[in-house]
Amino acid sequence: MTSIEMTKGARSHSVLVVGAGYVGLTSAVCFAHLGHQVVCVEANPFRLAPLLEGRSPIHEPGLEELMVEGVLSDRLHFAPAIGKEEMTGVEVALLAVGTPPDENGDPDLTQLAAAAREVSANAAGDLVVVVKSTVPPGSCEAIELVCAEAALEGVRISVVSSPEFLRESRAVEDFLAPDRVVVGASDSQVADLVADLYPAGVPLVKTDRRGAELIKYAANAFLAVKISFANEVAAMCESLGTEAATVLLGVGLDQRIGKDFLRPGPGYGGSCLPKDVSGFQALGRAMGTPTRVVAAAEEVNQEASRAALMKLEMGLAGVAGKTIALLGLAFKPGTDDSRDSPALKLAELLISSGARVRAYDPLARVESFAGERVDCAFDAIEDADALVVATAWQEFSVLSPMAVAERLAGRMVLDAAGALDLESWSEAGLVVYGIGRGAPVAFHPVVWPPLRWAHHRSGLRLLDGDTGFVAG
Ligand code: NAD
Ligand code: UGA
Repeated sequence: MTSIEMTKGARSHSVLVVGAGYVGLTSAVCFAHLGHQVVCVEANPFRLAPLLEGRSPIHEPGLEELMVEGVLSDRLHFAPAIGKEEMTGVEVALLAVGTPPDENGDPDLTQLAAAAREVSANAAGDLVVVVKSTVPPGSCEAIELVCAEAALEGVRISVVSSPEFLRESRAVEDFLAPDRVVVGASDSQVADLVADLYPAGVPLVKTDRRGAELIKYAANAFLAVKISFANEVAAMCESLGTEAATVLLGVGLDQRIGKDFLRPGPGYGGSCLPKDVSGFQALGRAMGTPTRVVAAAEEVNQEASRAALMKLEMGLAGVAGKTIALLGLAFKPGTDDSRDSPALKLAELLISSGARVRAYDPLARVESFAGERVDCAFDAIEDADALVVATAWQEFSVLSPMAVAERLAGRMVLDAAGALDLESWSEAGLVVYGIGRGAPVAFHPVVWPPLRWAHHRSGLRLLDGDTGFVAG
């Protein structure tokens, strides 16, 4: 039976967190802040080394400060591996390891199974294992079998699902003030213990494990649907010469719809939305239940970067041989993460179409990039044929359009991220294309056919050379 109550944040627990990534490190640091005793285990030496020196290996506002607070208060410790010593007195082991997609788009649970085995084999007494990683429904039950096999005789391991909903770039604030906490357990007492880990006064959804696991997938799938819907409305706005931001605000202010996640752009990216959208569909296929809405959202998303490329192709009369200044490589502003970044996808498309890409991003960690990476925005812009803003970093929004116009060889600017003030950039003599924003007049697609259609149906007469109607 599913019920909704509030978290109580009752008493402190001894917690082991496996994985110091965006989710694991944030959970460990925030648990310590909430008064729990925490050991965080990280196997990757490049992530562990800074942690041992009091520095965060990932960029998240406020994380390093809270981490130092936890270490100084002696409530937060880091370790390279899960051993008997790390497991001493631990009541809850929280698994926050990666669940990347395999070659078929299905989530690969290898890291999770290994972590479950390690905590179980080293547990001296009964243990609650919380699966924080995003996993398909049924995984916690399978992980419980893995734990039972690895555990010492007489040790009882209960596996609970408690998915995470934090956003990168706002991880700490989302973790400490979430919209809801979800706990899926087969035992109500164990569910209460896990709920106690979180801040008090948050709506708590207690359900079974499969339900909790599905909530996470369905939430990310729905967010993807909203974004793709916004991108389709944005394309309509471009054809009609109206502003998508205003149209979508008008739609989203209806509380049943909600105005968040209706921002058009170069498509959704990051390590989770694309992965979980394909995981959701893989789940549907496995169960024989259709996921048509989400499939359509994915299809729209895949076209988004190609649509941006088409604008450049048209505006530059072909991109081959042209130099494109690309501002932004991270998958969104405020993060150093470039996993599945729409900016990188657009860069790849440009390069494979014969363009040279000169890119600047203030923070993004990029493993491999076929373009050139430079150290500041103006180094990218200097003498380029066109400028593309692909990530809405604040420092790009405040660039002087006059200074850009002086340095850019061509006139075309594509604001794929919705970062620029169209008017002032146009006033500087630049031809600014946006997504879901009035395109430059010369590029305006034909708006007449739908109006003619309306004319036929309504008996209204269309004024030649105008978009208005008069009574026929
Ligand atoms: P990540 O790759 O940044 O971090 C995972 C970390 O776990 C890595 O540093 C890795 O070295 C470590 N690790 C793996 N196995 C280990 C082991 N046995 N012992 C010690 N360390 C180990 O991943 P992430 O972005 O934090 O995501 C983790 C999970 O949370 C994924 O399932 C993801 O879908 C989900 N999630 C992510 C976010 C997000 O914003 N990134 C939000 C909600 C949910
Ligand atoms: C997303 C979810 O928002 C989190 O709730 C979830 O916990 C997380 O995935 C996860 O499961 O890992 P995140 O990947 O950090 O968080 O980033 P978002 O802020 O959701 O943005 C995802 C992508 O969608 C970005 O490329 C962003 O630019 C794009 N986006 C977002 C839009 O194009 N339009 C919008 O209106 C919002």
